[in-house]
Amino acid sequence: MAVQGVNGISVIGSGYVGTVVAACMAAVGHDVVGVEINQEKLAKLQSGSSYFYEPGLDARLRAGIESGRLSFTDDFEEAMAKSEVVFLCVDTPPGENGHPDVTSVTAAAKSIGKAMHSPHVIVTKSTVPVGSGNWLTSTIESVLPDDVDLDVFSVVSNPEFLREGSAVNDFLYPERIVLGGDDLDAVNKVAASYRPILDQSFPGGTIDAKPTLVTTDRSTAETIKYAANAFLATKISFINEIAEICEWVDADVNEVAHAIGLDSRISAKFLNAGVGWGGSCFGKDVEALAATARAHGQEPLILEAAQRVNQHQRHRLVRKLQQHLRPLRGSRIALLGLAFKPNTDDTRDAPAITIAQALTERGAIVRAYDPLVKQIPELPNLQTATDPYTLVEQADAVVLLTEWDELRDLDFIDVAGRMRGNLVVDGRNAFDASRVREAGLLYEGMGRGSVPAPPRDEVW
Ligand code: UGA
Repeated sequence: MAVQGVNGISVIGSGYVGTVVAACMAAVGHDVVGVEINQEKLAKLQSGSSYFYEPGLDARLRAGIESGRLSFTDDFEEAMAKSEVVFLCVDTPPGENGHPDVTSVTAAAKSIGKAMHSPHVIVTKSTVPVGSGNWLTSTIESVLPDDVDLDVFSVVSNPEFLREGSAVNDFLYPERIVLGGDDLDAVNKVAASYRPILDQSFPGGTIDAKPTLVTTDRSTAETIKYAANAFLATKISFINEIAEICEWVDADVNEVAHAIGLDSRISAKFLNAGVGWGGSCFGKDVEALAATARAHGQEPLILEAAQRVNQHQRHRLVRKLQQHLRPLRGSRIALLGLAFKPNTDDTRDAPAITIAQALTERGAIVRAYDPLVKQIPELPNLQTATDPYTLVEQADAVVLLTEWDELRDLDFIDVAGRMRGNLVVDGRNAFDASRVREAGLLYEGMGRGSVPAPPRDEVW
């Protein structure tokens, strides 16, 4: 039985966000149509599997399709006819001057407008520049069929806070759901779509984990998304700056982070020092928010500092290798991890890319292993190994860049026996340093009382 008060949902765009929204909305009881215009991706989704790795997603897709509640199409008319709430989940890659590129959003808005023959609520989940709700409204209005009134639809902003690798759980068990819009009926309709999650009344719901519903105006909702990501990114850059200070004063940043995190005002989450943030969101969103500030004549001091510190981490890691291996030219370096974080095959803005490029430019021989990523478009010549132990054969240095569980617990005695050198650089502070040292290896973390990298040189 469909969820009360909502007569069908459609989800436009079946990427990392849209596929999760579609599969999970079907899982909580809605009739859902997902729209995907790329035929190859569409065929995969129709067969019940995603074209990217996201834990738990394929099982939800299959269950949804088998139950008859979930389907995928490339036909906007069909999707619009079968839904009254439309989630807009197309991608917004980085565009010019720091602002996101809204080409896909514009195209999707036009297709939605042309296929609108009855009342709909359009929900923006794509991360769009603040104020986009108004622009989206006029874009849709401009293509509505002649016999349809302008007020046939309403736009509500509903930012997403899904993390890749745990997106299914984040969607089903969120801490808050943010809805922004001035049309109360439309906001209530979207809230009704989320009712099973708000009440945790779906099979598998956790009654004591009910999320908070925040309702506000559209610009505020859009700003909440940027502020959330910018704060998290800044928190990481903050602890990374502390990590560098720790190296100078012989302190261990992991212990510092643990102790300051016990203060609930600070909290221990997002205080893992290391090689910094990557991924498709933090870099793009911090830059977009900074661009918004600049467009209004404001200097985004903290946002700019967070970005600089993050770039500096990648640089710092290369400097550590330079310092120990002297010269880097001809050194054999084994990179453990290529994805921008564990449990995903996504390498967008992954620290591994910048670091592998910098090492290769300096004449090092770089190889890599990642449990899921076997090649990266930006690094067509990068050789990958089939397992971490083969990778470290004859290596002068081993560098951890993604803290996959299977990499945290390496047998370091075995690793030491295979290496030519003895340097282990823990770019995620995820190894047990004493186990590394017991194997006779030289442990170098990021801010763990180790030798500081030589002074800054912002060459790249
Ligand atoms: C991030 C946000 O966490 C989500 O809430 C948001 O919805 C999403 O962006 C988005 O805007 O779509 P995501 O990029 O998937 O999610 O990944 P995170 O888990 O936030 O990690 C981002 C990066 O920060 C990773 O490279 C990770 O290794 C790094 N990180 C994270 C640290 O270096 N230290 C930490 O303590 C935590």
